[in-house]
Amino acid sequence: MKIINVVGARPNFMKIAPLMEQYKHHPDIEPLIVHTGQHYDEKMSDQFFRQLGIPEPDINLEVGSNSHAVQTAEIMKAFEPVVLEQSPDAVLVVGDVNSTIACGLVAVKLGVRLIHVEAGLRSGDRSMPEEINRILTDSISDMLFCTEQSGVDNLLGEGIAEEKIHLVGHVMIDTLVRNLERAGESTILGRLQEQGCLNGDKYAMLTMHRPSNVDDRETFSRILDALEIIQNDMPILFPIHPRTRKNLAVLGLEDRLSSLQNIHLMDPIGYLDFLRLNSCATVVLTDSGGIQEETTVLKIPCITLRENTERPITAEIGSNQIVGTDPERILAAYRTVVSGQWREPKTPPLWDGKAAGRIVRIILQTVRRPRT
Ligand code: UD1
Repeated sequence: MKIINVVGARPNFMKIAPLMEQYKHHPDIEPLIVHTGQHYDEKMSDQFFRQLGIPEPDINLEVGSNSHAVQTAEIMKAFEPVVLEQSPDAVLVVGDVNSTIACGLVAVKLGVRLIHVEAGLRSGDRSMPEEINRILTDSISDMLFCTEQSGVDNLLGEGIAEEKIHLVGHVMIDTLVRNLERAGESTILGRLQEQGCLNGDKYAMLTMHRPSNVDDRETFSRILDALEIIQNDMPILFPIHPRTRKNLAVLGLEDRLSSLQNIHLMDPIGYLDFLRLNSCATVVLTDSGGIQEETTVLKIPCITLRENTERPITAEIGSNQIVGTDPERILAAYRTVVSGQWREPKTPPLWDGKAAGRIVRIILQTVRRPRT
């Protein structure tokens, strides 16, 4: 059974790693990795392959960055000949990035079975590019693997046949569970102490890259208003996404940020250092999807700088609070953390490090049967 596994952007790599590991136990599966090249910098891509032991991609489409339409179209154009030549039994896509929908569309149009891992998540916000990618990918997939019950409910509500949907837990959490001990050996905290970025146990982690936050000067400035107050209290570590770094210059916010001396900008960091920093942080502020989930498992308070989440379980039982971009709401959540009033989080069902094993077993049972 030949399966093409698609990766393109940074959050995809943590999701594909445990699947590649599981395939090793099944010699009758021949897995191929296709990297679309949506992310291409060493720090956004290569270092994750090395740290997570993901085999080198069999094929790299090298599409790079562009507008949504051009990027999606270029991926489709480059991926179609690969599928024609390889003639796989299935194409597996993860997450919700442009590479996910682009390769998914190519597969189904060629009559190849499409598997979507991390299906069914919905923010309800169609202005998010990822929400469109999620809805479209799910609507054309043959097998849909969900991380949480809300995903199953959303898919059923959209009329997806029940037998296609499987609640299996979360492959990204498999990677976290597998690497937590190794991350404990990271020396990043010591290095940051030496550089004078940290001066005690307390610090906040910050990540921000959503277009709705970093492409708009007013929103970005509002978030900075809250960060200005937090950095008076404790250092903020800010590994900065290339999109955000570019926009700081374009929006003329570089001087404001550099005047906030306790916010420490860093280049994008590798998986193990990042896991180490998140697992020891006092609080994490983010607009990422995956980090809401990782902090839930790590039991670290997470303040989400968005108005909604497609991962509601993290806010229902996890460590996440959705506050948007109003400085007052960000600071109110922050005060709850520092005053010790944060709710004790629970780990969602099936987030136990074994999701990839479940997925591969179900694929083996299903793909051998003719499609319904
Ligand atoms: C993409 C995903 C988003 C995901 C994020 C994780 C889509 C629609 N968005 O957003 O869901 O949360 O990745 O990082 O697929 N760039 C570099 N080097 C790189 C990659 C990008 O400098 O290796 C710069 C380019 O200027 C590019 C910009 O970052 O224009 C944005 O990259 P892009 O892949 O278009 O979207 P992301 O914001 O990274």
